[in-house]
Amino acid sequence: LGTLSAVALAFGVGNAFANDCDDGEMVIKFSHVVAGKGHPKGDAANLLAERVNKEMNGVACMEVYPNSTLYDDDKVLEALLLGDVQLAAPSLSKFEAYTLKYRLFDLPFLFKDLDAVERFTTSDAGKGMLKVMEDKGYTGLGYWSSGLKQFSANKPLLVPSDADGLKFRIQTSDVAQAMIEAMGGSAQKLAFKEVYGALQTGVVDGQENTWSNIYTQKFFEVQDGITETNHQLLAYLFVTSTEWLNGLDPAVRDQFLKIAEDVTHEANASVAATEAKNRQNILDAGGKIRELTPEQRGAWIDTMKPVWSQFEGDIGADLIQAAVAAND
Ligand code: LMR
Repeated sequence: LGTLSAVALAFGVGNAFANDCDDGEMVIKFSHVVAGKGHPKGDAANLLAERVNKEMNGVACMEVYPNSTLYDDDKVLEALLLGDVQLAAPSLSKFEAYTLKYRLFDLPFLFKDLDAVERFTTSDAGKGMLKVMEDKGYTGLGYWSSGLKQFSANKPLLVPSDADGLKFRIQTSDVAQAMIEAMGGSAQKLAFKEVYGALQTGVVDGQENTWSNIYTQKFFEVQDGITETNHQLLAYLFVTSTEWLNGLDPAVRDQFLKIAEDVTHEANASVAATEAKNRQNILDAGGKIRELTPEQRGAWIDTMKPVWSQFEGDIGADLIQAAVAAND
């Protein structure tokens, strides 16, 4: 334990996921907003840290800060450019200020399952989208899936018209806003860490998120129930600063990029299982889950899919087609 780490621990500055870095090691900080474990992103970040700390020992040392303890998603992107943090994985919905191309991933009912997501993100079209923000200083290292989203509210939602007049928390995504408005609801953009309190105090009536977020953030405790809509993808851009990456010694960069690629692959392969586990965890904890009949699900599709046309110009019809083709 170095002197600085000892001081940090003594003053409570460190956290359970921070590693003890040795003198001379390059420190790589990863900040995120979700649970530190039992969640696709929390687990992926820990796996990455484990590999970096073992295989790059003496050269690099990685620290993970979960649960918005270091930065919110809007601040973490600024922190990357300032060099205060080197890695992050905000959801693809949170890049509206930098590119409109990622609106693709928010289109409701675009991907039928996570396998289709994997086929698209590993295709040339998907990989090309990792680089669309390099002029803004960001390089995508990979896509990390989190799962499909479900709706919850303070009253039962079986068909979209049940959402009429309700207010839903959304991420900073205009596609999500259009989707909620198509349901007759209103949308409020809020930071992730504010969602539980907003649901509890009635600032909003409902929200949409994955099983893992609904379970680990305990949203189910302050909602009437969750409707299994699987209406939209939640996935992350595993992202770094282009300047930081380009500044690495080539051999170090290659080693880091190889680990990043392996971890991306391994993490995505276990998302479906983590999601299923957290769905069950909600039931075991007394949460209510409503499954839809094919007719009810059809009503959600008919209501929400028309929003695609509003965003086709921002995304490009070719990319939408490539994503749709990944379903086959
Ligand atoms: C949200 O804000 O709902 C999600 O993007 C949080 C996350 O990172 O899963």
